[in-house]
Amino acid sequence: MECKVKKADIVHQILRGAHAVPAGDRQAQGMGYAPTNIALCKYWGKRDNELNLPVTSSLSIALPDKGAMTTLSWNERAEDVVVLNGTQVAPDSAFVTRLIHYLDLFRSDEKWYLNIDIKMNIPVAAGLASSACGFASLICALNDLMKWHLPHRELSILARMGSGSAARSLWNGFVFWHEGMREDGMDSFGEPLNIEWPALRIGILPISEQQKPISSRDAMLRTVNSSSLYSSWPRKVSQDLSIFKQALKARNFSLLGGTAESNALAMHATMLSSWPPICYFMPETLKAMKQIWQLRNEGCEVYFTEDAGPNLKLLFLDTQLDKIKNVFPEMDVILPFE
Ligand code: DP6
Repeated sequence: MECKVKKADIVHQILRGAHAVPAGDRQAQGMGYAPTNIALCKYWGKRDNELNLPVTSSLSIALPDKGAMTTLSWNERAEDVVVLNGTQVAPDSAFVTRLIHYLDLFRSDEKWYLNIDIKMNIPVAAGLASSACGFASLICALNDLMKWHLPHRELSILARMGSGSAARSLWNGFVFWHEGMREDGMDSFGEPLNIEWPALRIGILPISEQQKPISSRDAMLRTVNSSSLYSSWPRKVSQDLSIFKQALKARNFSLLGGTAESNALAMHATMLSSWPPICYFMPETLKAMKQIWQLRNEGCEVYFTEDAGPNLKLLFLDTQLDKIKNVFPEMDVILPFE
């Protein structure tokens, strides 16, 4: 059901409670870094498309040194200029349009323009959650520039309105995004879980850096509207979330990895059963999946998860690194807790 609450109302509500700084006392420059995150239990489907309110809660883990650093400064020529990794992005591109629409929410009462410099060390739009760290770092930089001093919970709500998964990109470690029940989404935000798991490793398996055939936003909408399997998704998530809770408490890696893999495959099954069908798998994705299953048959515990793109993220413990590197030498290994 689509609600009538508008993003601009939420921004007003949050900024009313923020530290008010007169325009002349703002910073000359604002900066924000946000790590990207990989969902172990996926966000797939919205109960509100305007506010990015999810149908279910979700759970992620951050990749601390993969993310986005955004630096903002005032632009006196009355234009927003977006520079991504050192190159100016065309003002009429979808990327810039989406950023500008988002910034417009914060300048309904007052006109200002920005130089937006974004540095990302992950491929943009290849299913590696670039919009998650992009919007989270942008809202952190804006909070710094404007001296709002907003708490992370509010920043998570604001980041969510840029991209749902950005609600989880405000913290390192495991983050739980509460689906919330309210129509205005003020109870739908990320919350860090106080759980350390130093032996856990994430391997990024690069399969393709190509732009996705369909954005996660459009794919999600099409799935909700046309997949015959989608009605079973909320039940699957609720079961998986309670298993994740157990797995995290007991540091049970087999349970964590197996549930993450099964959750990702169930999400892709809803996409495959959409019409027109959505398939992010490439032949190389399937080949890698089979290699992972083969490793498991040989006693090496490794699991995968996959988002809206062909790349796989592997989950394993440090003791298995050498065996897995042997099969996937190109894998980039992330230590989420070190
Ligand atoms: C498959 O957060 O990119 O990565 O809210 O429309 O911006 P929008 O979607 P987005 O979707 C992410 C989907 C996912 C699963 C996940 O990260 O939980």
